[in-house]
Amino acid sequence: MVTVVFGASGKVGRHVAAGLSSVGEKMRLTSRTLLPVGFPVGAEVFTADLETPATLPAVLDGAQRVFLYAKPEGIDGFVTAAESAGVQHVVLLSSGSVIHPDAARNPIARAHITVESALERSGLTWTFIRPGMFATNTLWWWRNSIRDEGIVRVPYPDAQTAPIHEKDLAALAVTALTQPGHHGHAYPVWGPESLSIRQQVQHIGAATGRKITLETISIEQARVELGRTMPPMGVDAILAAWRAGTTAPPQVSTVVTDVTGRPAHTFAQWADDHANDFR
Ligand SMILES: NC(=O)c1ccc[n+]([C@@H]2O[C@H](COP(=O)([O-])OP(=O)(O)OC[C@H]3O[C@@H](n4cnc5c(N)ncnc54)[C@H](OP(=O)(O)O)[C@@H]3O)[C@@H](O)[C@H]2O)c1
Repeated sequence: MVTVVFGASGKVGRHVAAGLSSVGEKMRLTSRTLLPVGFPVGAEVFTADLETPATLPAVLDGAQRVFLYAKPEGIDGFVTAAESAGVQHVVLLSSGSVIHPDAARNPIARAHITVESALERSGLTWTFIRPGMFATNTLWWWRNSIRDEGIVRVPYPDAQTAPIHEKDLAALAVTALTQPGHHGHAYPVWGPESLSIRQQVQHIGAATGRKITLETISIEQARVELGRTMPPMGVDAILAAWRAGTTAPPQVSTVVTDVTGRPAHTFAQWADDHANDFR
């Protein structure tokens, strides 16, 4: 069996590649630009762009399974190329936003729904991984201010979220790719524990050995801060999620344990894994 891992240098994709490698799976890894370093030894590496269908037949030819990032602009071309190549199963990194009551008004949800719908209509079998908030988002939001000033500025310091370690999403994907019983399943994935932003910052402080000051700022200031590293629709989504976390605890889930048989990582473990990123 050959598995194609699109986006094998991505935060989740790199752990999918590592996980497949550790169980001895044959892989083809893709990037739009050659050559990301750090890929598992022995893996074949292809240049492929999901939004440029002509680049897909070469990497998909003779492959049976695919780990896929959601790219709505290219999904019809991907489905055609995958069906022609004889691909059987696709594990899609989707988004929990698709099952949110506001999905129809949320551009992030709509993009992922477009991709899920195309796979559902296709002749391919699929598994959808629908995560909530990635723990890696804290790198987007706070890495620079922690590194440069030892400070985190947020509008809702006591908002609760349930961040997910990217290794857990990858472990779900590897299980769905390599084990029976996951075809046609969509897994919402929330983190294993609800933590306030204040607690998350404390964990990063403990992991890095630094005192980090938490400063409360206005929504307008937060828009500016977040906008330095995120697109506007991402800023809106994050502010909405934080605001929701001030009035009700977020959903948590046991899906990682249920599907992989191993407990999900805590945020403290994630902070330990990424301590150097904040230094
Ligand atoms: N952040 C969150 O809280 C959150 C929550 C739920 C869902 N999600 C979803 O998770 C995904 C992001 O995951 P991540 O953090 O692992 O992403 P990431 O680190 O940004 O990696 C994305 C990967 O996709 C590849 N890629 C991008 N455009 C491509 C294209 N046109 N064709 C082929 N490959 C392409 C990139 O590879 P190259 O650059 O090497 O080509 C890169 O390796 C998004 O779909 C997002 O909506 C995120």
